[in-house]
Amino acid sequence: MTLAIRPVSPGFGAEVLGLDLSRPLGDNLFGEIRQAWLDANGILLLRGQDITPEQHIAFSRRFGELHIAGGNPALSRYYLPGHPEIYRVSNKKTDGVPQGREDAGTYWHSDGSWQPSPPMASLLHALEIPPIGGDTIFADMYQAHETLSAPMQRMLEGLQAVHSLAAAVLKTSYGKEYEGNFEEAAAKRATHPIVRTHPESGRKALFVNRGFTSHILGMAPRESDAILEFLFEHATLPENVYRHRWQRHDLVIWDNRCAMHYAVADYKAHGDRYMHRTTVKGDTPF
Ligand code: OGA
Ligand code: MN
Repeated sequence: MTLAIRPVSPGFGAEVLGLDLSRPLGDNLFGEIRQAWLDANGILLLRGQDITPEQHIAFSRRFGELHIAGGNPALSRYYLPGHPEIYRVSNKKTDGVPQGREDAGTYWHSDGSWQPSPPMASLLHALEIPPIGGDTIFADMYQAHETLSAPMQRMLEGLQAVHSLAAAVLKTSYGKEYEGNFEEAAAKRATHPIVRTHPESGRKALFVNRGFTSHILGMAPRESDAILEFLFEHATLPENVYRHRWQRHDLVIWDNRCAMHYAVADYKAHGDRYMHRTTVKGDTPF
């Protein structure tokens, strides 16, 4: 079988048509899906996937080893009971108990970029979608790099930036989980090249994000702030993003090595949103 694929935007992202992940999937077909994902610059959409948590986990495992619950207890309670591979993202509460992390990723970020080896990919499955709002916006970080001038590319080459959870605690909705525990967040940091090479495509991608990137090593703070601000703005120009309007049972797979994303928190007055996410482990950026 050859996959039927169509682009979801002129720049990047693709939808795979006619697949049902509740049915067995051979290795050849999985290989085509994975290649389609790489070719679409790391954003792949599969609609109409009425799958169980077990099927979501089994499909995700084919991309690589999965991250499981652990670490900060304020965050581990968001994993699906009995399925530590599934992180729940939701504004819903049952008897006052949150059914997932509210306001997860409501800022530009690449998942876990503050980790020395950040996750390679995330697979987000929509189980309940508000009638309006709650979109996710993706930015193509290959294109963000390619559309910089050669002198700017040369300046960035070899520069390193610090990513930290503390930066996110100060700037984003991460604050809630680390209240009174800023030291733990401050210890969660890593230094990565500003331009990383995708280990599978060999292409270069910009690797900084507003949520987690705090500063460029070796620069004066005001130099670092100005350059990062320019890069954040450049990477999220309208021509460089795809805004995903969710439907129930959509599964979106994104590649944290060459894309960043932003959850739009505009829907809560209109309805509930309930999503399951699996996270595939990654390696050290270079
Ligand atoms: C995430 C995330 C986006 C969303 O789960 O990593 O950023 O739209 N979620 O829920
Ligand atoms: Mn995220």
